[in-house]
Amino acid sequence: MTKPRIGVLTSGGDCPGLNAVLRGVVLAAEKLGWEVLGFLDGFEGLLPPGNYKILKRRDTAGIMPRGGTIIGTTNRGHFVAKVGAGNRAEVAEKVIADAREVLKSLGVDGLIIVGGDGSMATAQQLQDAGINCIGVPKTIDNDLEATAMTFGFDSAVATVMDALDRLHTTATSHKRIMVLEVMGRHAGWIALHGGIAGGAHVNQSAIVVVAEGAKPRDGQVVMRHCEEGEDRYGGIGAVVAREIAARTGKETRCTVLGHLQRGGTPTTLDRILGTRFGVKAVKLIQEKKFGSMVSYQNYQVRHVPIADAVNRLRLVPPDGELVQTARDVDISFGD
Ligand code: F6P
Repeated sequence: MTKPRIGVLTSGGDCPGLNAVLRGVVLAAEKLGWEVLGFLDGFEGLLPPGNYKILKRRDTAGIMPRGGTIIGTTNRGHFVAKVGAGNRAEVAEKVIADAREVLKSLGVDGLIIVGGDGSMATAQQLQDAGINCIGVPKTIDNDLEATAMTFGFDSAVATVMDALDRLHTTATSHKRIMVLEVMGRHAGWIALHGGIAGGAHVNQSAIVVVAEGAKPRDGQVVMRHCEEGEDRYGGIGAVVAREIAARTGKETRCTVLGHLQRGGTPTTLDRILGTRFGVKAVKLIQEKKFGSMVSYQNYQVRHVPIADAVNRLRLVPPDGELVQTARDVDISFGD
């Protein structure tokens, strides 16, 4: 008798903890006697004739500490469904029909999609077209309204904190101002958490953390939503550094952390969250709760409709407790 089969793919920008999810999926599925097909390079692995690798227990050995994803990912290609500026996911019908055929011919009963808002928009479209999908939220940006936390975020913040610790010593020695540009796309969570953990405030020297989604307007740096069609967000750090140097007359340097925030070994929290999310995704398939996304709420791993994660970003509330805490430890927001 053939084993029941499920599929899993990782989509969008990589982040630490993806391999913990994959390990959780494979080990939980094997317990149920299921076979796991890992589709390679994101949704692109669903294109005919199907590009996949059967994932077994032995494939998961030693992957927990590894950054990235052992089955590859992409934030480009045939399944890209842009969200963020209010537009709905639109993947070509033929592409979806082909993917459905591939999954059917391989006998895959449920597909776990590990990704961020864009990937969830694609997942919703596949689900609407009759493909049984379960979503797992992933992004270093931690900007999905439908879950209190995504794995990858804690590791990214740890990298920012480490960078700030290092910048402090050189900044103080030279009495310079240091600007650190961090990722986050539309949201300033990495900047805020990293800034608090790394003590981004003014002493003898100053450390300024700017989120890449910020842009200068009327002499102020403001957060923005990206414009339609725009898919890169970096560059603000250099602008801010130039402005600070011109206004203060102080030596100012800019560091852009870039993809260092996405690489490397996951923190304890991301390993545990990733494992919990992977195991939960398998349970949701077992319960046939298709169209659901794993969600972290009140310290519990639960589920919500995938649709809840589409086009609903969680941005930093300017009047929230965390911003107030930052202000209380002398972090200035430039206002
Ligand atoms: O969404 C995750 C993220 O790392 C953002 O913080 C950043 O804007 C973007 O992806 C970078 O994408 P790319 O890998 O295409 O440079």
